[in-house]
Amino acid sequence: MIKIVQQEDPVLRAEAKAVAASEFGTPELSHLVEKMSAALATCDDGVALAAPQIGVSKRLFIVAKKIFEEKPPKEDLVFINPTIIASSKTKKVLEEGCLSVRWMYGEVKRAEKVTLEAYDLNGKKFVHHAGGLLAQIFQHETDHLNGTLFIDKAKNLQEIKPEDLHHHD
Ligand code: CO
Repeated sequence: MIKIVQQEDPVLRAEAKAVAASEFGTPELSHLVEKMSAALATCDDGVALAAPQIGVSKRLFIVAKKIFEEKPPKEDLVFINPTIIASSKTKKVLEEGCLSVRWMYGEVKRAEKVTLEAYDLNGKKFVHHAGGLLAQIFQHETDHLNGTLFIDKAKNLQEIKPEDLHHHD
């Protein structure tokens, strides 16, 4: 089983390296994404995962297909070398947790909408506009690639053990 690293691991504090042009379209890059998907699938409450969370300091993250309840894609969505190119002025304070910071939860102010530019596995650039949960995910995961954890920004942090957590997915 692939381990999700926890907050004391320095890989979570490093600035992740861009995926190189030569890596796009390779089986190694696909395999990395498969490993990330497998790790994410082990977490009932997981909605996304950045590569540093499995110990790989590269700029990519995935978003679980299950969050797209109405029209789930076949595979988890992949965002490589992502950049937030626009953020709404409207911010919202949202409840947040992290698979690498068990079992802390807190409130983080996030832009309500963001536009993310990223590359797919074959190196094709695309733009994704997001609001709601997906916008929150884009911001949280981009932070991971810059060595930032939500606990750096959160207010009212508290520990909620899994047995006390109500299920929401
Ligand atoms: Co996280």
